Amino acid sequence: MSRLVIVSNRTPSTGPAAGGLAVALRKTLAERDGFWFGWSGKLSEQPPREARFEEVDGLTVGKIDLTRQDHHAYYAGFSNSILWPAFHLRLDLTTFDGQWYEGYRRVNTRFAEALRPHLKPDDVIWVHDYHLIPLAAELRRLGARNRIGFYLHIPFPVADTLFAIPHHLELMRDLSHYDLVGMQAQRDIVAFNEFADHQAPLSLSGDPLKAVDFSKTIVEAFPIGSDPDAFARLAVSPAANKMVRRMQRAMDEQRLILGVDRLDYSKGLPQRVEAYEKLLANNPQLRRGVHLLQIAPPSRDTIKEYQHHSDQLDAMCGHVMGRFAEPDWQPLTYVKRAYGQPSLAGLYRMARIGLVTPLRDGMNLVAHEYVGSQNPEDPGVLVLSRFAGAAEIFEDALQVNPFDTDETAEAMRMGLSMPLEERRARWEGLMRAARTHSVDNWAARFLDRLGAMAGRARQRN
Ligand code: G6P
Repeated sequence: MSRLVIVSNRTPSTGPAAGGLAVALRKTLAERDGFWFGWSGKLSEQPPREARFEEVDGLTVGKIDLTRQDHHAYYAGFSNSILWPAFHLRLDLTTFDGQWYEGYRRVNTRFAEALRPHLKPDDVIWVHDYHLIPLAAELRRLGARNRIGFYLHIPFPVADTLFAIPHHLELMRDLSHYDLVGMQAQRDIVAFNEFADHQAPLSLSGDPLKAVDFSKTIVEAFPIGSDPDAFARLAVSPAANKMVRRMQRAMDEQRLILGVDRLDYSKGLPQRVEAYEKLLANNPQLRRGVHLLQIAPPSRDTIKEYQHHSDQLDAMCGHVMGRFAEPDWQPLTYVKRAYGQPSLAGLYRMARIGLVTPLRDGMNLVAHEYVGSQNPEDPGVLVLSRFAGAAEIFEDALQVNPFDTDETAEAMRMGLSMPLEERRARWEGLMRAARTHSVDNWAARFLDRLGAMAGRARQRN
């Protein structure tokens, strides 16, 4: 079997990629041999031209350092101040600096130059996420004819928004150098086809000859998932129980409403707090009987828009506290810290409502993890945004429009009063969907599809 080379900005040794995804891909890597390649997490004055390889928990990881300047332009700049907000339909939050695009390309070139000498002709390469869209084009330029797949973990933007992204045409041309492009949801494929079929209007692209040729690239939806059965086991593990006991002491008879999200403006946290405020305002009988726990580890906090968002949320949580708290009851707890998976699994299991209400999200794995962690005898209710990719597979969730905070408040109220029988029936449907779309199935489907493309890759020149 061909070796597998996984490429992502972060590797399992530099943080957030180590989660369900790292676990699943580690298993896949172990079966097929190969390595993971990415940024080392280090910034240096003059980075060495060559990658260094090391073993991390039985996995071979190749890494390169980046200069502070390049990393800023590539990561905080083009990736997270342009691509991230625009792909999440927040053009209002984009900022643009021409040097960022150059830095983004330079880093992709460096990744390709450091990776190329370690590739064998038959290796299958799987590139992850928006930081690395140009990588295949850069590798092809260096003569790589390997099968190369790309997976976009975030949503693909509708055409009008895509047209507003500086250099979008180059990025789309870059995408056409992949053999297989995977996206999270059907809605992403619809948006992509809208672009591919019509391309930029002449007024925007200038020259019709610039149309991007996608005839050699297959673009399909491969919805990612988690390992729901592993979460089921984790949720009753001693570490989870420890957290549950702590919470039970603090909660007394209150029912828990839980949100777990990176502190990111795409997650709809201000709208969520507003919806919770409406729940308490409209249903006085619920006060003292419910508690919202929002866990939100800080993310990308060197970027101004993230700082504003964090301040906004501080103020909103303070406002709800001031309005409803009593000396012996607090309506919410807001925690800006990360917790390990066992603690989270215990909290998910305790929570009567899992609140997953992003304004836009590629998939949202918290929804999957919440479902996996439930007690089948007495499951909680998933309140899920229609604008998360997860909405396409979790039909049994209470789906809401997160911009409509009345609707979210009402879904919370329904979830709190939902009879056991209905909760069980809905959860069974959710768990079936979570199993069908497990992360193992996701990786196998993508790699089978890419593996079957051997012939096409060799036709490239
Ligand atoms: C999203 C992206 C990932 C990214 C993660 C954490 O899930 O799709 O590519 O790694 O957020 O963000 P960070 O900027 O800390 O890597």
